[in-house]
Amino acid sequence: MRQAIKGFSKLSKEAKIEWLSDQYFESPEDAIALLKSYWHLDPKVQKLHDEFIENTLSNYYMPFGVAPNFKINGELFTIPMAIEESSVVAAAAKSATYWLERGGFKTTIISTKKVGHVHFIYEGDENKLQSFFRETKAILFRDTEELTANMRARGGGIIDLKLINKTSDMDGYWQIEALFETCDSMGANFINSCLEQFSQSFQRELQASAQFSAQEKAIQVVMCILSNYTPECIVRSEVSCKVEELNGDSGISPEEFAQKFQRAVRIAEIEPYRATTHNKGIMNGIDAVIIATGNDFRAVEAASHTYAARNGKYSSLTHCEVKDGIFRFWIEVPLALGTVGGLTRLHPMVKFSLDLLQQPNAEQLMGIVASSGLAQNFAALRALTTTGIQKGHMKMHLLNILNQLEATEEEKESIVEYFKDKVVSHSAAVNRFCEVRGIKNPNEIKKNH
Ligand code: MEV
Repeated sequence: MRQAIKGFSKLSKEAKIEWLSDQYFESPEDAIALLKSYWHLDPKVQKLHDEFIENTLSNYYMPFGVAPNFKINGELFTIPMAIEESSVVAAAAKSATYWLERGGFKTTIISTKKVGHVHFIYEGDENKLQSFFRETKAILFRDTEELTANMRARGGGIIDLKLINKTSDMDGYWQIEALFETCDSMGANFINSCLEQFSQSFQRELQASAQFSAQEKAIQVVMCILSNYTPECIVRSEVSCKVEELNGDSGISPEEFAQKFQRAVRIAEIEPYRATTHNKGIMNGIDAVIIATGNDFRAVEAASHTYAARNGKYSSLTHCEVKDGIFRFWIEVPLALGTVGGLTRLHPMVKFSLDLLQQPNAEQLMGIVASSGLAQNFAALRALTTTGIQKGHMKMHLLNILNQLEATEEEKESIVEYFKDKVVSHSAAVNRFCEVRGIKNPNEIKKNH
């Protein structure tokens, strides 16, 4: 019978592992050995990882790969990507090379503002609150001066404060909305600290004001929190070339490829079922770089999908135009990123990734990440509208299938060679594996895998 545990977080790492292995595993020794085999050899590096979160037991590996040949605003980059999906890095690299020969990616920062709110309930006279806010705004700025000093020295800080009436959505619901510039940091802690200060100052001033009745003074601050939706922190990346310079695979003409490609994008613009998969492919390229550079992929995911639905219907993050013989393909996406703070100076692989990217600032990183997303989408749509996705996808997945079958290196080499000019499917791979190994009945193997 399993026991609940009190004070788990206070146990040493060894004791946590022991408890867990005893409680949940048939062979505790194997569980312990596995967890320990993933510890870093250098105890100092391991300690760093242990201290990123609570209750760390071990590390969880993800492949770290690179996609070379990205020409972005005329400069060449090799982009670091941390991702487990077999075909993502290959697809990014393929697109990068394709566009390298056609002028590369061009990026534009459209805006870099972030936003946060004090959400509160006020049940009183609206005009009084509006005029009180106007009078108090300068005090809110003044009270955060200490918090914002460093950020202001770097050219950032609080840009604006607004009072927003949300009472038509919920009785008594108001917001103080704050706009921030956080320069090269993602700025979550900075924003939340400022918001909590606004809340305190606002309540203090309200209590001291003679304008309000006791009932009006009884506001309730529900919460102070940044918004991960950043429609004013947007980057665009685009590629373009003459239609005649395009080549699809499978021998279709450049004109037909351009038309089919544009239709594929249009379908994602108008059909949420397709848009979701289309954008998922974009996020393959975005998240992999976000993780490699120590940024918050959940925040980026959340913002991207809200942005994709900003017009009331979920739609594509990329767009395509074919006009006057020119093919243009672009992405616009909210990316609130940091290249200082957070994990950027702590995680050795994040440091490595940022060095590889030549220490970009946040705006440059936005351009690189958006280009990775666009490249990924281009590769997916190019395959989907020509050869079909499975050809490339399954080729990359073949090694996973063979590893699951515990094929030897020699077997893998011969089977990969065999599939060079054939379509891979799971059962074709198992059948070939059985032939190579001399197994008579592939069904036995299929049942177990
Ligand atoms: C798979 O991870 C991503 C794709 O489905 C994206 C797409 O369909 O555009 C290939």
